Amino acid sequence: MSPIKVLMVCLGNICRSPLAEGILKSKIKSHNLVVDSAGTAAFHEGSLPDKRSIAIAHRNGIDITDQRARKISLSDLDDFDHIFVMDESNYTNVMKMCTCDSQRIKTSMIMDVVHPKSSIAVPDPYYGAENGFEEVYQMLDTACDAILKKTI
Ligand code: 4NP
Repeated sequence: MSPIKVLMVCLGNICRSPLAEGILKSKIKSHNLVVDSAGTAAFHEGSLPDKRSIAIAHRNGIDITDQRARKISLSDLDDFDHIFVMDESNYTNVMKMCTCDSQRIKTSMIMDVVHPKSSIAVPDPYYGAENGFEEVYQMLDTACDAILKKTI
């Protein structure tokens, strides 16, 4: 059976989506699931996750230092079964790339899995305080539980 493929998407692919990837991967045991992440922008391509994301993941027993940032590609829109974006801006950027409804339908705001149709954003913590990463972590942890329960 071919695996279900999940792509987590934010802007830079260094703060939120690497955490989402790491958290979801940490929760899958027997699931036939592939998880990856990407950014809608290329400015951090090849970089490690932000050290604050690495730190909060580490505090929760998750190592995300194997990840390197990359930009979402057109082929991702076909290759992945579910594309979870962090905020409205990410959503708009992915929608602009989509060329057909099957790509649009598989794309959604990640917190909608927890609160359907709420369009709650996972806030961009890059320019904020350290505790922004704690909030992001808790939101993504809740979302990843819901993804495993409801989506996959
Ligand atoms: P991310 O956070 O989208 O969660 O990876 C950001 C990372 C970098 C920048 C903005 C947001 N930046 O402007 O460089």
